[in-house]
Amino acid sequence: MDELVALCKRRGFIFQANEIYGGMQGLYDYGPLGVELKNNIKHSWWASMVYDRDDVEGLDASILTAQNVLKYSGHEDTFTDPMVDCKDCKSRWRADQLDGSQCPGCKSKNLTEPRPFNLMFKTSVGPIDDGTSFAYLRPETAQNIFTNFKNVVDSTSKKLPFGIAQVGKAFRNEITPRNFIFRVREFEQMELEFFCLKGTDEKWHKEWVDARIAWWEAQGVSKDSLELYNVPEDELAHYSKATVDIMYKFPHGLEELEGIANRTDFDLGSHSKNQSELNLDALVKENKDSNSKLAVQDIETKNWNVPYVIEPSAGVERGFLAILNEAYRVESLEGGKERTVLGLKAHLSPIKAAVIPLKRNHDGLVAMAQEIKNELQGLKLGRVLLENSGNIGKSYRRHDEIGTPLCITVDFESLEDGTVTVRDRDSMKQDRLKIQDIKSELKKLINGTDV
Ligand code: GLY
Repeated sequence: MDELVALCKRRGFIFQANEIYGGMQGLYDYGPLGVELKNNIKHSWWASMVYDRDDVEGLDASILTAQNVLKYSGHEDTFTDPMVDCKDCKSRWRADQLDGSQCPGCKSKNLTEPRPFNLMFKTSVGPIDDGTSFAYLRPETAQNIFTNFKNVVDSTSKKLPFGIAQVGKAFRNEITPRNFIFRVREFEQMELEFFCLKGTDEKWHKEWVDARIAWWEAQGVSKDSLELYNVPEDELAHYSKATVDIMYKFPHGLEELEGIANRTDFDLGSHSKNQSELNLDALVKENKDSNSKLAVQDIETKNWNVPYVIEPSAGVERGFLAILNEAYRVESLEGGKERTVLGLKAHLSPIKAAVIPLKRNHDGLVAMAQEIKNELQGLKLGRVLLENSGNIGKSYRRHDEIGTPLCITVDFESLEDGTVTVRDRDSMKQDRLKIQDIKSELKKLINGTDV
């Protein structure tokens, strides 16, 4: 983990938030390369969830969430972690993460009894902060997918089974944020709520577990690093009938990368009016505030069905950490030297190609490198860099370390015959290619095809 943290800082992937004022626990900022990798992960998820399917629509809803949403969702009552205080050093800890009954800070055993601590952040809304007008920062993106269920159905005429996908920020006031970006207070989720008829839910649950494992593998996470965990009944979230966690061997241990839950008819039922007419399976709080029935009518029987929901829910930051960890390697070279390589899948690489003139600030070489950069950038495959450093060896090392799949060197021969040296990150093999050929090489690498 320490090597990854150091690489992230050194190369501009991730910085501690508010660092110049001493930093804030559980918050991180994503630098020039981090934002590219993060965007690429999110784009890959969105493409596989929305573009590659015909049964999913997208959504981008607000973060500030009305109290009623999180009252009826059950989060006000149950979204808690057990907290203990150390009476000696006054620190606070999650009771379920203590090693024995000892304070991890000062080792005292003088701890309070555990008590529930609600993880939701509250903020006041409007000009008067008298405590009556507040909203929550959403603790999961899922809830405003449920509250928009009818809007999406009415505006798209979607029929069951279908899903609504959302990528966005969520917030949890973790008692002890830790393990770098693994457990943080502000993070991004990639969530799909997949609505299906009761009775088909278990089949869909299994299909989504398989689909999500395949997606992680396509992002470079090897199957050997993944394990499935069937969450036992006494650990299930209040809305879940069954949850399968995809666990990943993080540098700090085996932990959840993504959860796939069967949320039954709990959520749509909870947010519906006239619940007694809906034949719900889930035990829900009586809703006196909703003005909507979140159900679909069977054309023949005219019965109202509240769909069951299968939810694959992944954290972007956890995915980022797993993908970095899988890609990171240190290779021994001849002469006792080493090189650090991020063997990222090309579609995730922050920089797709670097174009390097052999001599820094040489008019002819830089002009040609700029032209090549512009042509490759025009393919719209992601960011291409002009690297006017004049130090080819150093540029190769930097680009190996940040995962750039191709480096293109423009030399004096290039000015004469239009060919350049193309170096492959993984094999370090160098080929002499024409610019047209680099374009199709890059397209093949990133899209899997050169058209
Ligand atoms: N929506 C599931 C979760 O946030 O854990």
